[in-house]
Amino acid sequence: MKTIIINASPRNNFNTALLLKEAAKGAEEVGEVKYIDLYDLSFSGCVSCLSCKNKAAKVQCRCYHKDDITDIINEIYTSDHLIIGSPIYFSQVTAGFRAVMERAVFPALSYNDYKSTFGGKVDVDIFLTMNVGKEGYEKMYKDKFAGEFGSFGLLNGKVNIYPFCDTLQVEDYSKYNMAGFSEEHKRKVHEEEFPKCLEMAYGIGKGIK
Ligand SMILES: Cc1cc2nc3c(=O)[nH]c(=O)nc-3n(C[C@H](O)[C@H](O)[C@H](O)COP(=O)(O)O)c2cc1C
Repeated sequence: MKTIIINASPRNNFNTALLLKEAAKGAEEVGEVKYIDLYDLSFSGCVSCLSCKNKAAKVQCRCYHKDDITDIINEIYTSDHLIIGSPIYFSQVTAGFRAVMERAVFPALSYNDYKSTFGGKVDVDIFLTMNVGKEGYEKMYKDKFAGEFGSFGLLNGKVNIYPFCDTLQVEDYSKYNMAGFSEEHKRKVHEEEFPKCLEMAYGIGKGIK
């Protein structure tokens, strides 16, 4: 069992990363794990070189654009499980998450018949952390993200989306112009709910859903 875990938050030790590190602990129980802090690397999204669709390409489902994440993208295809996490920025995943999605999924899309060119199977679990609460997520984001991330299905595995809502955005709200948030509420959710989220992340890493 091989799991690749990608932290698509620019913060390497906050909500998204803490959840992913817990998932990594779970995944280590059942196999090999590779953990990547995406924003430590230099990369872009798909540059439309179309090398993955070139008739002369030796391997069809492969990203040929060269930068720091080329090997990581291609390693996804030899993994059993991809766990990728992102904070929500302006109701979207981060640009980094988007780059990974473009680079990993486009080579798997056949422009001959719109089916998958990928012969393997990778289950994809997506962790999303955000300020909005569970109700807001259901109303604003749930259906939208289910549609947007459905394209990971071209990797032939199951695609699951896990929202982690109402996160603590900073350690000390009094230091910032963030009066629109109740620190008391944020801290309460963090203390009561976040430990359960960490436990859930561990289980997801271990393959318990
Ligand atoms: C630029 C920016 C935009 C954000 N936009 C949203 C948003 O549209 N909806 C939301 O619920 N949270 C939003 N947030 C809050 C983050 O999604 C939330 O704090 C997240 O848990 C941060 O993840 P991290 O701790 O891993 O960095 C935004 C944060 C930043 C920095």
